[in-house]
Formats: sequence, structure tokens, C-alpha cells
Amino acid sequence: MRIQRIQVKSSSENYSVLCGSGVLRVAAQEIHRLGKFSSVQIVSSPKVWRAVEKSIPRNFAKIGPAKIHLFDDAESKKNLQTVESLTRALTRAGADRHALLIAAGGGVVGDVAGFVAAGYLRGIALAHIPTTLVAQVDSAIGGKTGVNLPEGKNLFGAFYPPRLVLADSQVLRTLPPRELRSGLAEVIKYGVIADAKLFAYLESNMERILQRDPAALARIIPRCAELKAQVVSRDERESGQREILNFGHTFGHALESITNYRVFRHGEAVAWGMMAAALLGHEAGITSASDAARIISLTRRIGPLPPWPSSTPQKLIVAMRADKKSRSGKLRFVLSPAIGKAQSYDAISLDDVEHVLHYGPQLLSNETSSSKK
Ligand SMILES: NC(=O)c1ccc[n+]([C@@H]2O[C@H](COP(=O)([O-])OP(=O)(O)OC[C@H]3O[C@@H](n4cnc5c(N)ncnc54)[C@H](O)[C@@H]3O)[C@@H](O)[C@H]2O)c1
Ligand SMILES: [Zn+2]
Repeated sequence: MRIQRIQVKSSSENYSVLCGSGVLRVAAQEIHRLGKFSSVQIVSSPKVWRAVEKSIPRNFAKIGPAKIHLFDDAESKKNLQTVESLTRALTRAGADRHALLIAAGGGVVGDVAGFVAAGYLRGIALAHIPTTLVAQVDSAIGGKTGVNLPEGKNLFGAFYPPRLVLADSQVLRTLPPRELRSGLAEVIKYGVIADAKLFAYLESNMERILQRDPAALARIIPRCAELKAQVVSRDERESGQREILNFGHTFGHALESITNYRVFRHGEAVAWGMMAAALLGHEAGITSASDAARIISLTRRIGPLPPWPSSTPQKLIVAMRADKKSRSGKLRFVLSPAIGKAQSYDAISLDDVEHVLHYGPQLLSNETSSSKK
């Protein structure tokens, strides 16, 4: 078994992300290395737990058996009520300040359980066992936790870095295909913004990856985790550097928000968003035609996406301005001057954006969309 250990620098304590097929077999050992804990509290969802239960250690020498807390990880349950009920369950389970909370699941479990760990008794130790591709390459790394409010997504939360992340590609075997494809959009994003070689690898191996070929997953997951780790180690609180991770996200968030988060998986909206960002980069004279074409054709290969919503460019622009990541309503776009590089721009002309929103969806829709789930 080949395990890759990636270090993440954090304002509190540095931590390791361990990637590899079968890495959960060393979970207990790695947890013991972190120090002494009074109890282990595992937070997961019924769906995830059914799928991965056998891979996750439940008995910890000296600490005893873990207590399991399950909650429905539908996006609609990523809210403060769930935080309250999990917190109360921890209290009833007797968790004290020296407890370790393990979040085992996708981004929803990680964000909610991470936030619970941040608040419970003013903070208890947290470890992530990410079980989706999105969580392994993105959400489990970087310390962002939180929940949605009726007024918007991820509006209430905290930076709370974990002490350990264990990303085992074996748990992805049971992941629904749509979730895998959605995660692949974020994988392509890393290639575009930071690693031309990874991008070329994806171009040559997309079919193998879609079939979850272990060697292909072993090539891409640790590399993406490493890239995320590098960016957040330099810019934990998203003052500058971390912004490049938002490639495709200005358009993507707008698509998610005008459809009330009911149509797209996040990665699907990002896939559309990356193709639109490639066109916008070209329109603005930043991205070459051949790079834009490569980004679009690779993104298309992850498979069918829900169709681009029938909406006016103006409506999308309003949604982009309302994005919490835009600064005082000013539109910011991460664009790629060359594959493997990205930069944030705040002076892109509105005409260019409107233009892309006018012709982009039609141009890109050919073969990209499908109403299939
Ligand atoms: N904190 C961050 O930095 C960050 C980054 C990106 C996304 N997010 C958040 O992550 C969430 C999305 O997370 P996600 O894409 O991982 O999806 P998810 O957590 O919604 O999980 C997707 C589905 O897959 C199921 N599932 C998970 N692992 C499984 C497995 N191994 N086998 C079978 N089924 C499995 C889940 O039960 C769920 O139904 C959003 O709420 C988003 O805001 C956070
Ligand atoms: Zn994303």
C-alpha cells in the first residue's frame, strides 16, 4: 500500500492529509499518534455509513469503542437545527473536551460535523474521513466548516482545521456515478489553475478515471489534495492566493443560486462555469483559443450535465454580483492565461461577460447537456 502524506500549514496546528488506497487500515494507528483522547465520536450519515462502515475503525485501544451519530446528509439538512441536534447527541454520549470527533462522509457531513467540532465545548479535536471525490480533493482540506441559512448557502460557519485527514480511494467504489463526475469537475479545475501536466494526464486518461481505475485515482487524488494543501497553506483565510480555487465558480455559483440549488450538483455547475470561464478568458484576450478549446472539450468528457437554465444573462449577472465572494458587488473572475495558471481579474468588461452569456450556453450545449440523472 502506497500512502502519500501531505502536510498542511494552518494558523492553529499543522496537519497531515494521508492519501492512498487502503489508508483507512492505518486509521487507528494514525489517530493514536495525535495524542490521547477520552472518547471517539463518529459523525456520518445513514447512506454513507451503510457504504463505508466496514472500512472505518470502530475500536480504539485504550479509548474503547467509538460512538456513532448519524444524520441525514441531504443539502437541505445542512443547517443549524442539525448542528444543535448533533451537539446534544454528543452531550448525551458523554463527550468531554478531550473527545475526538471523526467526520466520515462527503462535504455535507464534513462541513456540518466540522462546525460542530468547532463549537462543542469551544472546540474539540476533529479528523476527516472524506468519502466523496469532492471531499477528498477539496472540502476536507482547508478548514472551512459551516452550514446554510434560509437566506443562502454556507453563510454561518468557522475556520476550523482538522488534526488529520484520511482520504482512502477505496471508499469511492460505492459513490454514485453522478457524484464521481461532479468531483471530476473540481479535479479538472486543479489542472487548469495549477498543473498543466495533471491536465494532460486527464486528457489521456479520462475514460480510465470514469471507470475508477485504482492506478488512475492514485495519480489524481493525492495530486489534487497536494495542490489544495499548497494553496490553503499559503492563504488559509482566502485573502488572495486561495481565490484561484474559484475558477469556474463565479458562473457556477450563479447557476446554482438561480436554480435554488435544486438542479445542479456543485461540480456540475462548476463544469458549466469552467467552460464559460474559458470562453470569457478568450473573449477578454487572456486565454488562447486552443487552451479554451482544451478546457471545454476535457470538461465535456466528464459526461452529461443538467441543461443550462433558461435565464437571461442579466439575471445571472445579478446572481454573480450577489455572490458572497464578489467584493461589494464588483464582478471578479478567475481566468486562465495558460493551462496550469490562473489569476483573478476584477476589470473584465461587462460587455464580454454578457456576450459569453448570450452565445456561450448555445455554443456549449451541443452534446454537453442531458436531462438524464
Ligand atoms: N468546506 C469546503 O471547503 C467545501 C468545499 C467544497 C464543497 N463544500 C460543501 O460540500 C457539500 C457537497 O459535498 P459533496 O459533493 O462531497 O457531496 P455530499 O456530501 O452531498 O454527498 C453526495 C451524496 O453521496 C453520498 N455519499 C457520500 N459518500 C459516499 C460513498 N462513499 N458511497 C456512497 N454514497 C456516498 C451522500 O450520502 C450524498 O447522498 C456542499 O454542501 C458544499 O457546500 C465545502
Ligand atoms: Zn467548488
